Amino acid sequence: NVLILDFGSQYTQLIARRVRELNIYSEIIPYNKVPTDLSDYGAVILSGSPLSVRAEEAPIPDLTKIKGKIPLLAICYGAQYLAHFNGGNVAPSNTREYGRANLSFIKEHEPFFHIINEGSQVWMSHSDTIKELPKGAVLLASTHDVENAAFRIEGEDSYAIQFHPEVYHTTDGEQLLKNFLVDIAGMEQDWTPDAFVETTIAELKNTLGDDKVILGLSGGVDSSVAALLLHRAVGKNLYCIFVNNGLLRKNEFHDVLEQYEGMGLNVKGVDASARFLGALAGESDPETKRKTIGRVFIEVFDDEAHKVENAKWLAQGTIYPDVIESVSVSGGPSATIKSHHNVGGLPDYMKLKVVEPLKLLFKDEVRRVGASMHMDPNILGRHPFPGPGLGIRILGDITAEKVAMLQDVDHVFIKGLKDWGLYDKVWQAGAMLLPVNSVGVMGDERTYEKCVALRAVESTDGMTADWVNLPYKFLQKISNEIINKVKGVNRVVYDISSKPPATIEWE
Ligand code: XMP
Repeated sequence: NVLILDFGSQYTQLIARRVRELNIYSEIIPYNKVPTDLSDYGAVILSGSPLSVRAEEAPIPDLTKIKGKIPLLAICYGAQYLAHFNGGNVAPSNTREYGRANLSFIKEHEPFFHIINEGSQVWMSHSDTIKELPKGAVLLASTHDVENAAFRIEGEDSYAIQFHPEVYHTTDGEQLLKNFLVDIAGMEQDWTPDAFVETTIAELKNTLGDDKVILGLSGGVDSSVAALLLHRAVGKNLYCIFVNNGLLRKNEFHDVLEQYEGMGLNVKGVDASARFLGALAGESDPETKRKTIGRVFIEVFDDEAHKVENAKWLAQGTIYPDVIESVSVSGGPSATIKSHHNVGGLPDYMKLKVVEPLKLLFKDEVRRVGASMHMDPNILGRHPFPGPGLGIRILGDITAEKVAMLQDVDHVFIKGLKDWGLYDKVWQAGAMLLPVNSVGVMGDERTYEKCVALRAVESTDGMTADWVNLPYKFLQKISNEIINKVKGVNRVVYDISSKPPATIEWE
């Protein structure tokens, strides 16, 4: 394992992903929670930080059990930390050191820079600089503006770099991480999807034995991959429940249920549309709608769960970004746990133990694990879809008619994206039904009907997003088709707002 100590850098998750792309497992832990037992870790990486080592609230971890004992790579703030607390000098830099730079000097015959040549582009992002190296340091590389861009500590496997190997713009970043992790730290590159599947199934078998497990399927990638892993481990003892909240995409309930059955899963479809729509009647506040949908889901799910006699476990498709403890350094060095709708999702009255087979994986790894189990690419490539479904895409109150109208609009849009080969180029797409009527003409008739907004975004994690430049010809065709086919809609607009400041969903 690689232990990544997080000092609150925006790039910390990227470090973990780069390490994992080398098929080496890595985990992120806040800098002030260094585990007491470090025997599992073959290397430690210190992340960057928005703070200066000279700041009063600077994160100061205790590295006595790490430095000089476990191979250590210190990045940016980490490098300054090593310098500052070992007799070096860190001070504000005179020139701005941000963006692209090139290594103008690399010390020869250093395994750390194996196959990396002078001129290699690196990405800098810091305002302090290391003016003097710490005791016992050997300079390894410089750029034009940053003399002490990389160093190691003599007699230790401790390396420090001022630039960021994890970002795309550092061209040899992956090679550098490989040099450190494989050649210097001697780590094995054996964290592969196949190996994950094999060990996870064995562990699940061991933990779950003959116990019955309940899982809520949503049709999304995470719960589907979790279900398949559990199915391989406990077979018919996995009881999947797929709830139709009446706010799914057109035909989704039926189609997805069929797909799951085709995968051999023991799945029960529960059509609770009427119960959800009843509870939502007349409600137009977005947060109240969300809460109502959440509450009814728990009620329905609990009713169904009680029908599985003697169930011991509740399985969830929680993934790694949901469980990483985030470090908030800006408001002092206190670590807070990210609140997220999937975490702690266990209702009090369901006294089941929780099993989360994907909680070590990033989203792209979940997809690779699914692919290694030969899961249908149609399920793996599915766009994210919010839990409250069309409920938060119908602005204002929700009625069965509005749901049906939006399902038709969404269907034309999504099918169009697929037919035009655009679906896989978009991270998420959908349609919003606006609480706006506008005037139009159809034939010789004046109309006064609904307006829908189409939204398609590019993103990697939904935290930031940009609207997709869909071809005008496509938009023209889709707009026509929606207005011609969907009764009650006479106007289509395309949302060209990025996130931030706009969110992906309209509610
Ligand atoms: P926003 O609208 O916050 O959406 O930019 C970011 C991502 O989260 C999804 N989303 C939700 N997912 N329950 C969910 O399960 C919700 O209440 C919810 N709200 C937004 C949204 O679809 C996008 O992928």
